[in-house]
Amino acid sequence: MSEEKEHNDSKTNDNTKEEIQKNDDINYDNENESEQSLRYSIIKDEITSYDMSFKIIIIGDSFVGKSCLTTRATKNIFDNYYTATVGFEFFTFACRMNDQNVRLQIWDTCGQEEYRSLIQNFYRNASIAILVYAIDKRESFENLEMWLNEIKSKGHPDVKIFLVGNKNDLEDKRVVSIKEGNKFYKDNKLNLFMETSAKSGENVQELFKSAAEILYKEHSAYKNLANKNENMIRLPESIDENNNIIDKDDDEAAKRKKKCCLG
Ligand code: GTP
Repeated sequence: MSEEKEHNDSKTNDNTKEEIQKNDDINYDNENESEQSLRYSIIKDEITSYDMSFKIIIIGDSFVGKSCLTTRATKNIFDNYYTATVGFEFFTFACRMNDQNVRLQIWDTCGQEEYRSLIQNFYRNASIAILVYAIDKRESFENLEMWLNEIKSKGHPDVKIFLVGNKNDLEDKRVVSIKEGNKFYKDNKLNLFMETSAKSGENVQELFKSAAEILYKEHSAYKNLANKNENMIRLPESIDENNNIIDKDDDEAAKRKKKCCLG
């Protein structure tokens, strides 16, 4: 499909855009849960004690804006100049959900092919993978399938996948319509779809708030169940007394070992 045709498509999708934004700014896989309101605020100052901590990995082609999304969310800055990420960079997004301090450990990864082998191990234990494409670059949308396979083959089986179409301030250069993004999200049964702009800041806080909310709710629900029946269920993610993320698999293995030794 030509860029011009795509652009026209995106224009005809303006209604869809309006509808999505009017009805629900974020396409969310569990609407009932999203309706329950939580007390939420961003923690600006460094704190040392968190009630829960989760790992989030950001993946996608080079130049789609992964680093910019991360720095916009964590430092509220936007850099027009491009510096390729080598391997990965690590950021903290901290917020308060009800009376709990929640930390998102954000791993911003490199999109450039020559560095990709460096990040293979970082998929492990991510609670959420944010899969980013740029709305002005069709190739980055076409490569989503490859990124999805990466996370499915190397990530945790329970990993949640958010789809993000970044650079939506570049409406006049749009070549991927909202309808196409929405279709990919639905066809692949992903957990959230939204368009963002790291440049204007549109939807960036909402993206990370949604991540914190979905993980907080899941963690709280599991914790309640786990309290009721310790053997029945395991927490989706947890931290140890030193605030380190406990490896789900290692934790399970340790529990099994403990039980085995006790037995
Ligand atoms: P790699 O590190 O190579 O994987 O790239 P990346 O995906 O981290 O891209 P990065 O955040 O470095 O951004 C690439 C370029 O796009 C930079 O020049 C940014 O200024 C620009 N950019 C990022 N986000 C946006 C956006 O939302 N809108 C616009 N207009 N430009 C953006």
